[in-house]
Amino acid sequence: PLVSMRQLLDHAAENGYGLPAFNVNNLEQVRAIMDAAREVDSPVIMQGSAGARKYAGEPFLRHLIQAAAEEYPEIPIAMHQDHGASPAVCLRSIRSGFTSVMMDGSLEADGKTPASYDYNVRVTAEVVNAAHSVGVSVEGELGCLGSLETMTGDKEDGHGAEGEMTEDMLLTDPEEAASFVKDTSVDALAVAIGTSHGAYKFSSKPTGEVLRIDRIKEIHERIPDTHLVMHGSSSVPEEWIDIINQYGGEIPETYGVPVEEIQNGIKHGVRKVNIDTDIRLAMTGAARKHLGENKANFDPRKFLIPAYEAAKQICKDRYEQFGTAGNA
Ligand code: G3H
Ligand code: 13P
Ligand code: NA
Ligand code: ZN
Repeated sequence: PLVSMRQLLDHAAENGYGLPAFNVNNLEQVRAIMDAAREVDSPVIMQGSAGARKYAGEPFLRHLIQAAAEEYPEIPIAMHQDHGASPAVCLRSIRSGFTSVMMDGSLEADGKTPASYDYNVRVTAEVVNAAHSVGVSVEGELGCLGSLETMTGDKEDGHGAEGEMTEDMLLTDPEEAASFVKDTSVDALAVAIGTSHGAYKFSSKPTGEVLRIDRIKEIHERIPDTHLVMHGSSSVPEEWIDIINQYGGEIPETYGVPVEEIQNGIKHGVRKVNIDTDIRLAMTGAARKHLGENKANFDPRKFLIPAYEAAKQICKDRYEQFGTAGNA
């Protein structure tokens, strides 16, 4: 059934595990996420970005997730709206049946300008007020996602801070996080600790720690009842980058977030881990390989099946690595 995200994250906190939140755009991704969850007995968070709503359209997206709830009745599913840029967007999702929404007030409505604290509180509190009155959970975001390697804001997927960035802006301040939660009553808080969206997170192979997990600890100590969220948490599997490039792709050398750092974050209060890029890479690699090896094929199902299988394996791995497996 569809459940609120709060319910899933509370259970995860009580039992010390994390949930991957997978972005979805189409049938194959929804099936991969659900079949993997069924195999390992895992609860599910599926989320639709603004890009997904533009690609599939909100009704198709919503009905795909509702179809999953119907076909996999034993699995609890949170239907989450990812990165809402304004209260209006969130209110529409609440009205149409999403059980959780993210009000991303870390940037102004233009998606580029780092927001003031007051702006962020105002828009987030407005959404919480409406959402909580109908049992919908809310995720907020404080601090700007971006790279501590290049000191730049997120820039890959059309939203992200532009201009000069300082470490202060790229790391969530623990004191500010505590007042933000008091001022807004959000259920979950996305924090900036050195992750960024997309495939190009780190230009060299991580040796030591690449994220500021110490920040997560400090934030969690101050707001132990607020579930922490890590965006930009794809691990960018080298195997899939290699397969993509072996079958005609041209992806430059790049690295993602090591799974061990996410696991360390989960030990210190991270409950929701957003993953989109890993599924994209796996599906593209598998489809390229299939098409490269089957040059006469023209049936999309023939390459979508291996793409689905590759996505499913990513999901199973993350359910197991984050401790989600066994908790449906
Ligand atoms: O928020 C980031 C997700 O990866 C969504 O990306 O807007 O291309 O669907 P998208
Ligand atoms: P990745 O691009 O690392 O998969 O992050 C996705 C995300 O944070 C969606 O909100
Ligand atoms: Na989100
Ligand atoms: Zn995100």
